[in-house]
Amino acid sequence: MAEPLLEARRLTKRFGHVTALGEADFTAYPGEVVALIGDNGAGKSSLVKALSGAVTPDSGEILVEGRPVRLESPLDARRHGIETVYQDLALAPDLDAAANLHLGREIYRGGLLGRLKVLDSAAMRRSAVKAFAELGVDLKDVGAPVATLSGGQRQSVAVARAVAFAHRIIFMDEPTAALGVVQRGRVLDTVRRVRDRGICVVIVSHNMPEVLSVADRIEVLRLGRRVARFPAAGTSVEDLVGAMTGALDTAGGPAAGRGEDGPR
Ligand SMILES: Nc1ncnc2c1ncn2[C@@H]1O[C@H](COP(=O)(O)OP(=O)(O)OP(=O)(O)O)[C@@H](O)[C@H]1O
Ligand SMILES: [Mg+2]
Repeated sequence: MAEPLLEARRLTKRFGHVTALGEADFTAYPGEVVALIGDNGAGKSSLVKALSGAVTPDSGEILVEGRPVRLESPLDARRHGIETVYQDLALAPDLDAAANLHLGREIYRGGLLGRLKVLDSAAMRRSAVKAFAELGVDLKDVGAPVATLSGGQRQSVAVARAVAFAHRIIFMDEPTAALGVVQRGRVLDTVRRVRDRGICVVIVSHNMPEVLSVADRIEVLRLGRRVARFPAAGTSVEDLVGAMTGALDTAGGPAAGRGEDGPR
């Protein structure tokens, strides 16, 4: 079995008296699509945020390629090759799509102008047009402020940004939730293409058929803990729902036999 690319061990995160994560484990391997599923409030977004530096866990360990790391900010995570499309999108509404794509990674003009930190808007626009074309995102004007785009278009901009810059792992927290059928298909195609480049994609979704069609493996959270892991092949929607709701639990504990050392 390959070494995990990213591993969470016993992550705990409390918000006041709410335990969002209670000793949650998570594992991702290179070149796979992992679906992270669970009911509303199970802790999926909290786990994604903890693994992408947006929230700091109270305790537990995060390992990148076997080495313990501290991810104190999204920038820290980016330095480790981790990109994230958040459920509550983090775009700058007043900037255009091209500028959002390059947010924090602006391209500067060459020579003296570069030393004066003059932005190369034309270069950013060209690279944005290319990134959106690859994703099949149809934007009339990459120069229009993101605030004027539809929810689905904004989501596509966020996906394009993550895809353009990730070099190890991309977290996508419900990336298709706001999308129409065609756009949803394109995002899923992109997920597969990115995976085929050897990058791991972790996708949070409530759409079980979508999960089974795009994921290689599924990890299930319930009440802030990992309770089951499944290979997508041979797994049914009923299996997933059973693990999510606890219906599969037996006297052997949470989702007996499919927990820590469940099938890969
Ligand atoms: N910033 C916060 N402040 C207080 N409580 C929070 C905060 N973020 C999350 N929680 C709580 O932690 C728990 C887990 O929330 P989280 O957003 O991780 O769930 P989720 O699995 O992503 O749910 P959904 O499917 O609805 O997106 C919930 O009870 C939620 O209310
Ligand atoms: Mg969520």
